[in-house]
Formats: sequence, structure tokens, C-alpha cells
Amino acid sequence: MNETEIHKPVLLKEVLEWLPAEEGKIIVDGTLGPGGHTEAFLKRGATVYAFEWNEDTLMIARERLKPYGKRVKIFPLSFTHIREVLDAEGLRADGVLLDLGLSSFLLEQSGRGFSFQRDEPLDMRMSDELKLTASDILNRLPERELVRIFKRGEVPRARALARVICERRKKCRIETTSDLVQLVRDLYRPTPPKEKDLLAVVFQAIRIEVNRELENLETALKEIPEILKPYGRFAVISFHSLEDRLVKNAFKSDERLIVLTKKPITPLPEEIKLNPRARSAKMRVAERRKDQ
Ligand SMILES: C[S@@+](CC[C@H](N)C(=O)[O-])C[C@H]1O[C@@H](n2cnc3c(N)ncnc32)[C@H](O)[C@@H]1O
Repeated sequence: MNETEIHKPVLLKEVLEWLPAEEGKIIVDGTLGPGGHTEAFLKRGATVYAFEWNEDTLMIARERLKPYGKRVKIFPLSFTHIREVLDAEGLRADGVLLDLGLSSFLLEQSGRGFSFQRDEPLDMRMSDELKLTASDILNRLPERELVRIFKRGEVPRARALARVICERRKKCRIETTSDLVQLVRDLYRPTPPKEKDLLAVVFQAIRIEVNRELENLETALKEIPEILKPYGRFAVISFHSLEDRLVKNAFKSDERLIVLTKKPITPLPEEIKLNPRARSAKMRVAERRKDQ
């Protein structure tokens, strides 16, 4: 299998237009994944500091990026450690990219229950360092916590879903993606065109909780401006409105930054045709002020 089958980098042309990846520049890729964006930065001549917390993905990226030798340094860490690592190395970055969300590899080949279209154990941890699986969360958390998770994830009838889960788990544990799909179907009785959207939003709400995605993004949004050089650029690609809202508001209210994209950059129809998964991508870019 080649790399583009593992994952096609989203908004690649646009990322290369907005981040300065030429020779002599330092780019931080906070979400290395299988290495699509990073390889493009390396081809342009930049040095890349890359972060990735999924062990299997790291193996794929390491193999792919071998030809670039010491110009790429890979850290098996969450992007919440970027500041710590760059401080320790005494470095500041010319550009930072966060490409949030799942890679096609995690969705289709990790066997961790990210997709409602596969029957797999309900794990959903992107990294083995995370303690609670999706199944642990559904079987152990108090009902009010489940309500919070579903409300935050904008799941319709969040209270009813939490109730049904708590009723079901008294009888037997919710262990697999199929268990969850069945539960959602029983509660909402959705018609086929709506069913996919509903399942996607329920799965997403749980995945966000398991991986602490919004908390991690908030940390990064606070810390990354600190490790940018003057005029250094920070680009974030998000895939749902919860993330995009956080990015938009953080960029706008951060005195260290100038927002460069008044409206988010979205993929052209040609890209969506080749890679339908890109359709919900939104990229926002900000620049570090000179005198901050
Ligand atoms: C959309 S993919 C990145 C794809 C990559 N840009 C490419 O073109 O190949 C997102 C990746 O970020 C990783 N990831 C998500 N949250 C992370 C975090 N807090 N720290 C490090 N990696 C994270 C996921 O494991 C996944 O591999």
C-alpha cells in the first residue's frame, strides 16, 4: 500500500502557500500522521520537528521519512509537548501546523473502533497512553457525565441517549461499535439518509472525550504562539465546528497574533472530488507579531 492510500494530506497546496517551508526554515508538524504534509515540507528544504502520539502511525511515518535523515526529528509525543521540546532545544519555529482529526489509517486500519461502518472493539484511543477507552467511558461514567459529553458534541437528544446507555449497561457491557450502532438505531429510528450523520456525530462526541481533543487543542492554542519566531505562522486545519470555533476565537483574542485568514480556507471542488474526506476541512492561519 502506498502513502496516499494510507492518507491523502488535506489542503496541501494551501498549506505550502501559507507556511514558509523553504531551506533554512524550521517547521513544526504537531500532527505528523503518516507524514504527508511533513514530506512536502522536507521536499521544499525545511527542517521539520514532528509530533505524533499513535504508535503504529509513527512506524509508517518513520519508514517514509528515512530518506530525509537528520532534517526531520520525530517525537513520539502529544502536540501538547511542543513548547517543552522546543524550549529544551532552544529553538523557535518559522511555522507550525496542526492537522486535527483522524487519518484514513486510524479510521480504516487501526481496528480501534473509530468507524461506525466496521464491527470493532469500542476503543477509540489514538494513543496507548490514554487510560480510558470508549467502552470504559460508556460503561463506567455517571449518566450526567455522558449527558455532558453528548451535549458538548452537539448530539441530538443527549439526555435520552445517556439514559438508554445507562439502562443497557445494567444488562450487559457495551463493547463493540455494533453495540453502539444498534443502541443509536433503537433510540432514534433514523431514516437511512440521516442515519450516517447521526452515527457520525455520536461517534465523534465519544472520540473527542476519549482523546481529550478539545482540551489538547486549547493547550496548544495557548502555548504555540510562544514558540513562534516574529512573523512565524501558525496554521490549524480542523474538521468540525467545535474545533473551528476554538481556533477562530483563540486567534482573534490572542495579542501575540495577527489573523491572516479572515474567513477559513476550504478545499477546492477538485480536491473534494479526489478526497471526499477533505470536504469538512477548514484552515485558519495566524502570524506572530514582531514586537510581542
Ligand atoms: C489528520 S492526521 C494528520 C495527517 C498528516 N498531516 C498527513 O498529511 O499525513 C492527524 C494525526 O494527528 C495525530 N494526533 C491527534 N491528536 C494528537 C495529539 N494531541 N498529539 C499528537 N498527535 C496527535 C493522530 O494520531 C493522527 O495521526
